[in-house]
Amino acid sequence: MDSLFYHQHGGAGINSDAEVLDFSVNISPISPPIGALTLNDFALHAYPSIDGKGIKDFYKARFGLDNAMVLPLNGAIEGIYLLPRALALRHILALSPSFYEYERAARIAGAELTFLPLKSDNGFLLPGIEQLAEALLDAEAFFVANPNNPTGTEVPPEMIMALASRFPDKWFILDEAFIQFTPRFPDNSLMYQVMALKNVIVVHSLTKFYALPGLRLGAVIAHPDVISRLLYYKEPWTVNAIAESVATLLLNCGAFEEELRDMILSERERITALVSGIDGIRLAGGAANFFLAQWNGGCSLDALLSWLAERQLHVRDCRNFPGLEENFFRFAIRRPVENDRLLDALRLATLSSGNPLKTKPFS
Ligand SMILES: Cc1ncc(COP(=O)(O)O)c(C=O)c1O
Repeated sequence: MDSLFYHQHGGAGINSDAEVLDFSVNISPISPPIGALTLNDFALHAYPSIDGKGIKDFYKARFGLDNAMVLPLNGAIEGIYLLPRALALRHILALSPSFYEYERAARIAGAELTFLPLKSDNGFLLPGIEQLAEALLDAEAFFVANPNNPTGTEVPPEMIMALASRFPDKWFILDEAFIQFTPRFPDNSLMYQVMALKNVIVVHSLTKFYALPGLRLGAVIAHPDVISRLLYYKEPWTVNAIAESVATLLLNCGAFEEELRDMILSERERITALVSGIDGIRLAGGAANFFLAQWNGGCSLDALLSWLAERQLHVRDCRNFPGLEENFFRFAIRRPVENDRLLDALRLATLSSGNPLKTKPFS
């Protein structure tokens, strides 16, 4: 396994050239107004709280979640790796394609992973409840992202709740790293169901929505008994002093949250409408702040990607995901003017597709 390759995130390898528009990373295109902070603003001479109290304060004030239901994390990824280990999982069901780290976390914990393939011909939608129930028979846990990355498709929370009631001895682990971008949030989040359904566990992230990948902020949200079990296995002090201070500053970002949600919602609709008029590109997903796209524009995807890169536009080549080998790529929703640059380039690319582009792409 080439871990370097698999761990390469969307933006890796791109110089910090101000002109480059990086649509390959699916984080918010705008940042929260947390001010111009310096290291002196943080108590770096002392240990932070042992349990990431600033993050607990955030989830209590922002989402009304009791401290005992929240396990602060150094990014959602810490929870993804902690859960299979702490719950001693031996057999996990996951979707394919989905976030690669579930697979690696399961493998490191010694768990066997079974994949439920999502199909491009129905837009990568989750199968029906009976098919899911059958797939779950041999599994102890279902690891699923809502919305799923990279397909951008939603998991109906009602279906998960029905399955969680039907199989109380199985774990339902929902990765809601992108859920704040969805129009139905918070109604579609299972973070409010964990008291009623003890076998439902939510992994939440503050990385994507608040554009803070460098800080590492997230939490597991679960029934207090489950949190206690996880705590037994978790390393102390994984949330640093800067991260826990910034978590509380995010509580003053209501206007930012509204602006971001409005922007993503209207751009999602605009992009969907505009791309439907471009021959050679088919969109899937779009429930979060990114789209999965399939290129069929007359030249190879390699030619398209290098043509875009020449124009300082980067998208995520998704052909290394199982099931996405046929010319799939992912692009994030950015600011309107930035989205226009990508859409114009894609439109031009398809218009040029009648030419012998395989030898001379789009020039
Ligand atoms: C589905 C999904 N979950 C979790 C994460 C990781 O989140 P964090 O940066 O908070 O660890 C990612 C990052 O790409 C992701 O795509």
